[in-house]
Amino acid sequence: MSFRTIEWRDNAVVMIDQTRLPVEEIYHSYTDFNSVADAIRRMVIRGAPAIGVAAAMGIALGVREIVADTQESFFRQLDNICSIMAGTRPTAINLFWAIERMKKKALSLQGSLLEEIRSALKNEAILIEQEDLAICKRIGKNGADLIPEGATVLTHCNAGGLATAGYGTALGVIRAARESGKNIQVFADETRPWLQGARLTTWELMKDNIPVTLITDNMAGFFMSRGEITCCVVGADRIAANGDTANKIGTFSVAVLAMEHNIPFYVAAPVSTLDLTLSDGSEIPIEERPATEVTHIRGLPIAPEGVRVRNPSFDITPAKYITAIITENGVATKEYRKELAALAAA
Ligand code: MRU
Repeated sequence: MSFRTIEWRDNAVVMIDQTRLPVEEIYHSYTDFNSVADAIRRMVIRGAPAIGVAAAMGIALGVREIVADTQESFFRQLDNICSIMAGTRPTAINLFWAIERMKKKALSLQGSLLEEIRSALKNEAILIEQEDLAICKRIGKNGADLIPEGATVLTHCNAGGLATAGYGTALGVIRAARESGKNIQVFADETRPWLQGARLTTWELMKDNIPVTLITDNMAGFFMSRGEITCCVVGADRIAANGDTANKIGTFSVAVLAMEHNIPFYVAAPVSTLDLTLSDGSEIPIEERPATEVTHIRGLPIAPEGVRVRNPSFDITPAKYITAIITENGVATKEYRKELAALAAA
């Protein structure tokens, strides 16, 4: 791919600014954990796996900032850094998964020199990033067979290289299907209000010369009813034990439309997106974002000042609408509770 979403470079975390794409391709270099936390909050970086990587790298920066005379003080400050990271965005489980992994790594080194712990945490964060790329490739490979030759694939939001360490989950499946020689094209929902589809999915697919057509969110039913959509592939922010899936707001509507038209609806995600502690989707916390995301587009008002607004950033697609969940460890299709538990343990 011709861009890097996030990387550790010379003791700084470098990320492409997704608030500015596609108009400007700008990279920021962060050297302290608070700015990384702020970048996650403001969605400079977004997408479940990508914010997991960002949190891990932010923690690796944070422990470099700790001044401590004792192990106790070091671990107290590490806990504080982790809580700040955990407070950035509530829905994507990958963020908490990465924080837990970093904490576990640090705890396994209790008693070691602080310099050794710092260095190990930096390496762990880089490893999380490298593993994520490899995981996306495996998700792609596992999902590619589900996409028929000549397919038009509808996707929602951005579950691509920009939402991961690279390659993507839903877009990873599309990339892998293309790499296997299939002639397929993508329809990208614009994904109001933040426009991840219009701004990011189209940008990265066009960079890779993958044919993409942009539609507004309310056009999906029209194209399905005309027989122009073969299947849908989306990413996920958190998947409960029964397969209920939280993903970008609007995903649920696409899934219901897909079932109405007998169109397969696939979710592609790493097993780190599974939250088997939650029995079903009703327990997944849903982020509500600022009203201005709805009332304004790029700073310009599109609604009367003072209008009441709701802005849930994610919705839950019940498992019954999902034809299959594609992970790096395999594909779950029917009995999600049993199959997801097996994939998580694999
Ligand atoms: O609010 P965002 O842009 O972080 O939401 C992203 C999504 O909903 C993605 O579809 C999801 O994180 C999967 S990314 C591989």
